[in-house]
Amino acid sequence: MKILNFGSLNIDIFFRVENIVKPGETISAKSIEKRPGGKGLNQSVALSKSFENVYHAGSVGDDGIFLVDYLKSENINTKYIKKSDKLTGNAIIQVDDKGENSIVLYKGANFDNDKKFIDEVLNDFSKDDILLLQNEISSMKYLIDKAYEKGMKIVLNPSPITDEIKEFDFNKIDLLLVNEIEAKNIANKNSVDESIDYFTTTYPNINLIVTLGSKGSIFVNKNEKIKQEGIKVQSVDSTGAGDTFTGFFVSYFYQGKNVRDCLKFASLASALSVTKSGASISIPSLCDVKEFERKNV
Ligand code: RIB
Repeated sequence: MKILNFGSLNIDIFFRVENIVKPGETISAKSIEKRPGGKGLNQSVALSKSFENVYHAGSVGDDGIFLVDYLKSENINTKYIKKSDKLTGNAIIQVDDKGENSIVLYKGANFDNDKKFIDEVLNDFSKDDILLLQNEISSMKYLIDKAYEKGMKIVLNPSPITDEIKEFDFNKIDLLLVNEIEAKNIANKNSVDESIDYFTTTYPNINLIVTLGSKGSIFVNKNEKIKQEGIKVQSVDSTGAGDTFTGFFVSYFYQGKNVRDCLKFASLASALSVTKSGASISIPSLCDVKEFERKNV
């Protein structure tokens, strides 16, 4: 079994600020850092900490070659990353003293994935393989439809939410990972409980995870509903915490581990990532997660 993550690759520019800038305001940053990021790249890095066959597909410009080198250094196969004439995707990220962030995205090369390229990549994968998707690249609906035709299992983390999501057929999704806001938005409901009811009745075969920030997460499918409590840590930077959760959960889940263990493992990894600055560079190693687990039992 291989996992193909068709996802974004961004150059993250992190500004450390006291408070996130308000409209009309000019503020000074305490520091600035350029780092590898993008929900796609981050999730590949998290996956590769406990899964061997991770392939990342996507597009970068000349300015993004260091992102490909970084993925290689994390044991991720990069043969499906193509060079685009566009600038690499960029994210301007402010992180405040409470560890909260705000992000402005520039799509760039992430929107250079056309049908021909997608067909070429999917050609090398089959029904035993997993396709992981976020929502920061072009041709998402096409990717979902084509991978489904091949019988691949599709995992979707539809972040950030866009209008295009309404066009996706969630019957084709094996595992959907959403936060509270995304759950309510897609389901068009006012509460998490109503949203869960909506997903499980409308898409009876779906495996659903709703992450609840510091309150933990919930897994639901037609057989079971499991709640994982939040793990308390001192927050330094929450950027990439959701990506860390997704990567670790997907890796364990498709290795057939017990769902309760998958949820706990992903929550521990995500909590650890919040204690460090950065997105991909804050993703903990498998050893660190196991060590943290020993301290948390
Ligand atoms: O989830 C965090 C990521 O969102 C950042 O790395 C940034 O690139 C944006 O895609």
